[in-house]
Amino acid sequence: MKTIIEPFRIKVVEPIRMTTREQRQAALAAAHYNVFELAADDVLIDLLTDSGTGAMSQEQWAGVMRGDESYAGSKSFFAFRDAVRNVFGYEHVIPTHQGRAAERILFELVAGKGSVVPNNTHFDTTRANVEHTGARAMDLVADVGRDAAAEHPFKGDIDVARLEALIEEVGPARIPLGMLTITNNAGGGQPVSMANARAVSEVLHRHGIPLFFDACRFAENAWFIKQREPGYADKSILEICREMFALGDGATMSAKKDGMANIGGFLATNDGELAAKARNVLILTEGFPTYGGLAGRDLEAIARGLEEVLHEDYLNYRIASTAYLCDHLHDKGVPVLRPAGGHAVYLDAARFLPHIPRHELPGQALACALYEEAGIRGCEIGTVMFGENAQMELVRLAIPRRVYTQSHIDYVVESVLDVFARREELRGMRITWEPPALRHFTAHFEPLP
Ligand code: F0G
Repeated sequence: MKTIIEPFRIKVVEPIRMTTREQRQAALAAAHYNVFELAADDVLIDLLTDSGTGAMSQEQWAGVMRGDESYAGSKSFFAFRDAVRNVFGYEHVIPTHQGRAAERILFELVAGKGSVVPNNTHFDTTRANVEHTGARAMDLVADVGRDAAAEHPFKGDIDVARLEALIEEVGPARIPLGMLTITNNAGGGQPVSMANARAVSEVLHRHGIPLFFDACRFAENAWFIKQREPGYADKSILEICREMFALGDGATMSAKKDGMANIGGFLATNDGELAAKARNVLILTEGFPTYGGLAGRDLEAIARGLEEVLHEDYLNYRIASTAYLCDHLHDKGVPVLRPAGGHAVYLDAARFLPHIPRHELPGQALACALYEEAGIRGCEIGTVMFGENAQMELVRLAIPRRVYTQSHIDYVVESVLDVFARREELRGMRITWEPPALRHFTAHFEPLP
C-alpha cells in the first residue's frame, strides 16, 4: 500500500518560530509549569486541542468574502441551515457561537434539580452545563471504554444494560433526554457503533425519552463505522451520518471540530416547541436566530466545512495521521490509549512514568517534559483536570485538522521517544496555587526536587 498523502496543497503558510531548550525551560518556568499559560508563539507543534485550530479551505475563505452580514434573514444563514439539515436532517437549526452555548441553552430548558442526564461520557463543558442546572450527569460508557489498553472497535459505546437500569431506578420522568457523544472525546476519541446508537435510541424512545447527539466529531465517527461495522463498507459517509442522526431527536454541535471552522456551533432538533423556547433564550444571550452570536462569514465557513468534512479522501488522511502517530509510539513500546481515536492520541502517563505516583501528577510532568524536549504542547487529562474523579492519567495530543504534515508528526514521534528513553529522570510535580474550579487552566505548579 502506498503512503496516504495529505489530500491538499499548501497555499498560505504560517511560520513556526524555532526555540532552544533553554528558551523553553525559561518559558515553562514563567508559565508556572502550566502549558495553558504558555504564549502560543513559544510552541513549535501545538497539540493542545483540535477545536477551532484547523486550516480552512480556499472554498471556505471564498465563503468568508461572500458572508452576508444582514442582521436578520441573511443569505449565509440559509446556506448554513441547509448544510446542517442536509447532514443531520433536523428541521430546526439554531446557530450559537460555539458548542457549549448550545449545551447551555438546551440544558437550561430541559434539565434542573432532580433530573438525570445519561451519556456515554460527558465532555467537561457538557457535564458543567448539566450540573449548572442542578441536574446529575451520568457517564455510562461500557467497561471496555474505560480500559486504556483494550483493543476494541467501538470503545465509545454506552452500556445499554446500565442505561436500562438507570431508567428503572430513577424513572423516565426525571430523564429529560439521553445523550451520545460521537466520538467520545473524554473517553479517548473512541467511536460509537450504529448498533449501539440504535439500541440506545430504542431504549430511550420506549420510555418516551428523547435522544440527543453531542455531534462534534460526527464525520470521524461515521468513518470508523464505515471501516469497522459490518454492513457499512459500501455506504457513503453522508448516508451513515443521516442514518445515525435519524435515530435521534436533536444534536448539539461545536463547529470548531468537524464543522472545519475556527468558531461556531449549533443546536438542531425536530422538536418545534423546544426550538421556539431555545430561540427566545438565544435572543437574550447569543443573538437573533439567524446569526446566533456568529458573523455571516462564519456561517458561510461552517456551511462549506460541513460538506468538506464528508469527503472520504479527507477522512482517510485524517484518521490515518492520528493512527500513524499512535501506532508508531505503540510499536516502540510507549504506553498509549488503544486503539487510536479520531482526533487525538492519548499517552498513558501512569504507565509511562510508573515511578511517579498519581498525587505527584505524572500527566503534568509528562506534558511539561514534552514541551521542554521539543516545544510540543499537549494537555493533561487526569488528576490535575478531574482531581479525585480522574479515571486515568493521560496526556492528550490532539491533532488540528489539515494543519500539520507527516514530517511534523514524525517529529512528534521522535520527541516522545526521546522523552521515553529518559523517563526515569522525570520527576513529579506539585500544585503551588489553584483556583476554586476548573483548576487545570490556571493552576501553578513546580517540579518536585
Ligand atoms: N462536546 C465535546 C465532545 C467537545 O469535545 C467539546 C469541546 C464541546 C462539547 C464544547 O464545544 O468548545 O465549541 O464550546 N472540546 C474542545 C477540546 C474544547 O479541546 O476537546 P466548544
